Amino acid sequence: MQKVELGNTRERISCMGLGTMYFGTKTDEQTSHAILDVYVSHGGSFLDTANKYASWIPGFKGGESEQLIGRWMKQRGNRQTLFVASKVGFPYGNIPRSLKKEIILSECEKSLKRLDIETIDLYYVHAYDAGTPPEEFMEAFYQLKKSGKIRFAGASNFHAWQLGEANQAAKNQGWEGFSCIQQFHTYLQPALWADFGNQQILTPEIQEFCSVRKLSIVAYSPLLAGAYTRNDIPLPEQFRGQNTGHKLEKLKTVAGELGVSANAVVLVWMMQTPPGIIPLLAGSTVSQVEENLQSLSVTLSKKQLEQLAS
Ligand SMILES: NC(=O)c1ccc[n+]([C@@H]2O[C@H](COP(=O)([O-])OP(=O)(O)OC[C@H]3O[C@@H](n4cnc5c(N)ncnc54)[C@H](OP(=O)(O)O)[C@@H]3O)[C@@H](O)[C@H]2O)c1
Repeated sequence: MQKVELGNTRERISCMGLGTMYFGTKTDEQTSHAILDVYVSHGGSFLDTANKYASWIPGFKGGESEQLIGRWMKQRGNRQTLFVASKVGFPYGNIPRSLKKEIILSECEKSLKRLDIETIDLYYVHAYDAGTPPEEFMEAFYQLKKSGKIRFAGASNFHAWQLGEANQAAKNQGWEGFSCIQQFHTYLQPALWADFGNQQILTPEIQEFCSVRKLSIVAYSPLLAGAYTRNDIPLPEQFRGQNTGHKLEKLKTVAGELGVSANAVVLVWMMQTPPGIIPLLAGSTVSQVEENLQSLSVTLSKKQLEQLAS
């Protein structure tokens, strides 16, 4: 698996991350370990988790994904070869949705403990919080960096202006700002006014901001929960538009030409989108993940990229 630079940090990270949202809850221990092993065997080292994963699954309270990753790293003795990302800011248990400094600092301690590591490589703000001034949450991130508890900072579910505001607040103090943004992004384009609730889509404006300011873009939910290839998963309403049928046909044609699944085409298309969007690969079985990893063995031609863009 190739590596790409994280923002302008000079740190090189895998061109495809592994989403671990349901590890230790919906996806059992053995399957989660097998998926992690398959991802690593393909050269991957970038793991994505969050403090609250997956508190919304009945019978669980959050923190299970981090704990599972911690156990797996301990068993494999491979912590030093991995780049581990976690997040703070969304509510779970008795933790409110907030980016107050004391919440960020205490949640980071909890995540470090659950992951059983000394430093989180990339720590994200999971969502913007209008109730906390950017100076406050950027200071919390600066403090975490200074004390060696995190190495880099990222934002998720932000608008472009929020990202600009936060990074300016950091710059004013001489602190390093966010090096990347993680947004909802897939091959199909949503309607302009589509509502995603707490989630934020990757917009052309954010893409432009990141390209000018040299921030990396990480894409979550790239496969729309499997909707590109499964009859049991409906295409989300927000992605159903006049052009949808046409775009899906193009995807199918290109997948046929390359002899891979439509899921693999979505992922390789993202990685080939300049300057290289980093998709988060996810699956509930080893065979799904292996199918999606086919994206690493194909390259889209100029003609195919044009077809997919039409
Ligand atoms: N920052 C944020 O706010 C945010 C939000 C959401 C997710 N994330 C991150 O992004 C990661 C990925 O998100 P996601 O799970 O929503 O991604 P996704 O790519 O939209 O969906 C993954 C799901 O699609 C199905 N699938 C995947 N490959 C398949 C295949 N080859 N054939 C058939 N079905 C397939 C599986 O569903 P089944 O489980 O039904 O088999 C799998 O669990 C998460 O793990 C998390 O780390 C971040």
